[in-house]
Amino acid sequence: ALPERVTIYEVGPRDGLQNEKAIVPVHVKAEFIARLEAAGLPVVEATSFVHPRWVPQLADAEELLTIVDHRGTMPVLVPNERGLDRALEAGVRHVAIFGSATETFAQRNLNRSWDEQFAMFEPTVKRALAEGADVRAYVSMCFGDPWEGAVDLQRVVDSGRRLLDLGCYQLSLGDTIGVGTAGHVTALLDAFNAAGVPDDLLAVHFHDTYGQALANAHAALEHGITTYDASAGGLGGCPYAKSATGNLATEDLVWMLRGLGVETGVDLDALVATSVWMAGELGRPSPSAVVRALGSS
Ligand code: HMG
Ligand code: MG
Repeated sequence: ALPERVTIYEVGPRDGLQNEKAIVPVHVKAEFIARLEAAGLPVVEATSFVHPRWVPQLADAEELLTIVDHRGTMPVLVPNERGLDRALEAGVRHVAIFGSATETFAQRNLNRSWDEQFAMFEPTVKRALAEGADVRAYVSMCFGDPWEGAVDLQRVVDSGRRLLDLGCYQLSLGDTIGVGTAGHVTALLDAFNAAGVPDDLLAVHFHDTYGQALANAHAALEHGITTYDASAGGLGGCPYAKSATGNLATEDLVWMLRGLGVETGVDLDALVATSVWMAGELGRPSPSAVVRALGSS
């Protein structure tokens, strides 16, 4: 049987806006976050405390956190201790580290080798936990890498276990460039389970580059996964991953789950209205089929 209820981990303000060519004004970001929370999204990843030269789109992280309402759960990305210091200073209590399953992407995204990335994360996670923050971990390039091609399942499992072993409460499996297909999702989840990592420690993070994100989410649902990363309106992508496009659109996910009778707590009309508004701010239509279908009515 499918799970009765799932948690949607909204990444639009972070994964979505980090890849926008235009710099979105900070007050628009704050309104975006507030509207997502008002639409019933229980977790909204707000921004990243990365090097501002690497991701100029999110260079306003400090300012954003002074103007958003902190009552909801609003994690931020931190790659290292410098990022953690900035996040803690801003009052953040939920952080996420982001590792890579492949050597090339570790170099390109973190300026570290695959092995060195763990040495960067270890003190970061340790101190975050000591300060009372909880830590999520992402692992990128789980289904394929634009420079290395196919990625071995065992390599992904080893990367993920090393991140979880640092003390992270959850591991989000990233299909950074959207090449995964449903059978591959099942095989990867089975491989984690076989390595002693149960579904309740896992989340899935699909990008829709090849139009497979929703089918992949369905495969994960059948497996028993209960946390789904998604981006309102299908915004998104990673500036350091060639050909990464938008995330699975939150609206597309909610539409499917509603049809399956799986609870999310999300108000779809309010969410669509938010994405229509955001598309206006960005000056182009949402790539989400559900936003286009419901947003024009
Ligand atoms: P580095 O150049 O190796 O950094 O970058 P460093 O440790 O050598 O430090 C160099 C200087 O940067 C120092 O300053 C540091 O203080 C400063 P100096 O002493 O020279 O004046 N610095 C910082 N400043 C502000 N904030 C910081 C910070 N860290 C160092 N946090 C680093 C290493 C990790 C910082 C860099 O590579 C970086 O910022 N990378 C982030 C890339 C990124 O954000 N990518 C997108 C997110 S990942 C993603 O989208 C995938 C995901 O969605 C899942 C999926 O789809 O698969 C999560
Ligand atoms: Mg992503």
